[in-house]
Amino acid sequence: MEKENNGKGKFNSTFGFLMASIGSAVGLGNLWGFPYKMGIGGGFAFLLIYLILAVFVGYPLILGEVALGRKTQRAAIEAYRDADHRFTINGWFETIVPFLLICFYCTMGGYVIKYMVANFGDIFGAGFGTGRGDADAFFGGFISSGMPAILWGVFFLALTVIIVIGGVSGGIEKFSKVAMPALFIMLVIVVVRSCTLPGAGGGIEFMFKPNFEVFKGLGWLKVLGLAGSQMFFSLSLASGCLIAYGSYLEKDSNLEQNAVIIPAADTIVALLAGMAVMPAVFAYGIEPSGGPGLLFVSLQAVFNHMGAAGPIFGFIFYLLVFFAALTSSIGMMEGGISAMMDARIKKGKSVNRTVLTLIMGAVALVGSTIVSADGLGSTGMWNPLLSILGPDSGKVWLDVFDLGAEGILMPLGGLLMAIMLGWTRRHYIDDEIELSGKFVSKKFIDICFRYIGPVFMIFILVVQLNSFFGFTKVF
Ligand code: ALA
Repeated sequence: MEKENNGKGKFNSTFGFLMASIGSAVGLGNLWGFPYKMGIGGGFAFLLIYLILAVFVGYPLILGEVALGRKTQRAAIEAYRDADHRFTINGWFETIVPFLLICFYCTMGGYVIKYMVANFGDIFGAGFGTGRGDADAFFGGFISSGMPAILWGVFFLALTVIIVIGGVSGGIEKFSKVAMPALFIMLVIVVVRSCTLPGAGGGIEFMFKPNFEVFKGLGWLKVLGLAGSQMFFSLSLASGCLIAYGSYLEKDSNLEQNAVIIPAADTIVALLAGMAVMPAVFAYGIEPSGGPGLLFVSLQAVFNHMGAAGPIFGFIFYLLVFFAALTSSIGMMEGGISAMMDARIKKGKSVNRTVLTLIMGAVALVGSTIVSADGLGSTGMWNPLLSILGPDSGKVWLDVFDLGAEGILMPLGGLLMAIMLGWTRRHYIDDEIELSGKFVSKKFIDICFRYIGPVFMIFILVVQLNSFFGFTKVF
């Protein structure tokens, strides 16, 4: 039972906070989104836009969220209410986001555990392995399997719940401090293996070769949309998590430094993830695909081709993806329950972390069961987007949850935060940042919140909505 912070808990150290925050950022988005989007987004052209966005939008929003949380000592809803009660609605938006994300994240986390176990089975030629046959068929068979796919997702959810019940320092910090360095070491091992395979150069070229032709083909707005949505998802922006984590951070910790380290580490891991994935995929002449297909089909095909060492690298790889996914789902759950704990504190009640975690877990259970049963559309289940957009849209249940979070609420939440900190409560967080020294980037942050951020975020929001609903052919 955590005694500090009204019973909500606190991080023991800045290092613990950073590992948890980087853990919430580094996740499936880095491993299946970044390398692929970078490839189709023109390689270096995409990276350039991504970095510009990370500096002008990502850094200010991270600093804003962490500072808002630490200043108010509250999670999203009450933090926004304290700062400017007219923006309380944004606290609600940012609290709904993790509820949406966690629904499909647990399904994907379940897939990752299944693959980790199956590759372990392959090491010994055991019956629970993939059989090292047709990777496509194995994936198709598993995702449409109904109950097994649901149960692996439930298992992943249960692990998330157990760690979050353990508390901020006793669960989240403890786990992240082990998982994140371990992830990094395993990632480097896989990068070295992948980049030294004969023919690996094609993958490096796919990712990094400057290709500004893409602006004529896809168009720069589409690349901006790709990079923008990737940034929101990958940095877990506007999803309640960083406000909650900020509220658990000690007052002498340097917020500016932390707000630089988090996106820098996330981007480095994303680039390393690309260097782990793409060279190997190209070395074996496998078509890189986007999303789950990259992680579970293209990569499993790589491990199947690798000879005796394949399942060992497969196991290491899926174990590191598992750590990445679990630290992210923990962040989502904490973002949600931290706001619920505030509501209880406000009423003078005890926080009751265990019950609230179980309540959020129950919501996630319903959502993830639907997403798992849908099996990325492989079982032919109905979903509301199919009704709206028609059967040819190919939308699946995962898209339904993702539209609400990544498509609408995340960019909208970021936009509203920028409007609040740039206009209605300008300089509200300055004194909090100055607690640990001079606020070096004060002017820059002000300009970002007032002008640059809102313009970018309106673009991202429009491009995102367009990519889901296809209003126009322009973007
Ligand atoms: N930030 C998490 C990810 O990239 C959600 O997967």
